[in-house]
Amino acid sequence: DRGAYPYYMLKEIDEQPAVLHRIQKTYFAEDGSLKIPADLLAAMQKADRLYIVGAGTSYHAGLVGKRLFEQLTQIPTEVVLASEFAYDNPILSDHPFFIFLTQSGETADSRQVLVRVNNEWQAPSLTITNAENSTLYREATYQLLLNAGPEIAVASTKAYTAQIAVEAVVAKALGMARHISTAKNFNLNHELSLAANAIQAIVDEKQTIKEIAHHNLAKTRNAFYIGRGVDYFVALEAALKLKEISYIHAEGFASGELKHGTIALIEDKTPVIAILTQERTASHTRSNIQEVKSRGAQVLTIVSENLAKPGDDIVIPTISELLLPLVSVVPAQLLAYYASLERGYNVDQPRNLAKSVTVE
Ligand code: M6R
Repeated sequence: DRGAYPYYMLKEIDEQPAVLHRIQKTYFAEDGSLKIPADLLAAMQKADRLYIVGAGTSYHAGLVGKRLFEQLTQIPTEVVLASEFAYDNPILSDHPFFIFLTQSGETADSRQVLVRVNNEWQAPSLTITNAENSTLYREATYQLLLNAGPEIAVASTKAYTAQIAVEAVVAKALGMARHISTAKNFNLNHELSLAANAIQAIVDEKQTIKEIAHHNLAKTRNAFYIGRGVDYFVALEAALKLKEISYIHAEGFASGELKHGTIALIEDKTPVIAILTQERTASHTRSNIQEVKSRGAQVLTIVSENLAKPGDDIVIPTISELLLPLVSVVPAQLLAYYASLERGYNVDQPRNLAKSVTVE
């Protein structure tokens, strides 16, 4: 039931702080230890490489997950598009472990990969899903639930943040088991509380984002998101949100790549939304902002407070850099929502799309 909300998508965006709290309750014990099954951790500890499989938004959550797994466990991690990997001839590592990210648990492309994992490669697998007893839940070796509550809007929002949070939980547990100091020193439970508060602060101020959508996205045909590192991964997700419900041609670009070709697309007043949350790369992205501005782009910034400068548009609270994708995506979800509303579309049921994609 969407109650007083005009669309499920807005309700689901607003629910994200509560979803993070539920994940904390589910996966942290009273004493602060993590509740991840020992047999799952033992199987993952044998892996020399993790393969994260997903489609669409779940693939984007996997990209952020790669960063989490590599930082917290030191195990090389690959992220693959289910629809591509299902028909590839990959040279797998000696001891691969597969992680399936799927909100619905019914995505045919992802299932096709799981069939190969089980029959051809006989490797262990974990499905992280929102749907208990779904096909991918049943057919994987191990399973963990997102507990995000039903996601009705076709555009995925709370499942994305829940997937990142659960990946962080698994990565932290595995890193602890492997005695990795970054994992030991990462106070994930506390950081998830900070992330929930930060998201709450953004949804409380959604009026500002509504106005930005009105001014910058109501009429445009194109829009580009740019960023580096995990900000680039969020840019991909942000652009997918915008295209799927507002039908604006949106793309996410690695900001350093602009000069290698895509900057040719910038025209007078093209909206370019830059995401800056990573200290190491923020000044480089600032230079890229200047490059597109001088070609006429209308630049908007989504910046973490510690890196903010006068004139920035959307300033988000600073939390651990590893978890900032949980927060920086939220203004982008809201921008997509309000852009769709401005243009008079059915936000929850965009054309040509189904909630769960059960064909290959
Ligand atoms: O149920 P899944 O997570 O496997 O779905 C994967 C994609 O179809 C899904 O994320 C899709 O990209 C969303 N509509 C994006 O908002």
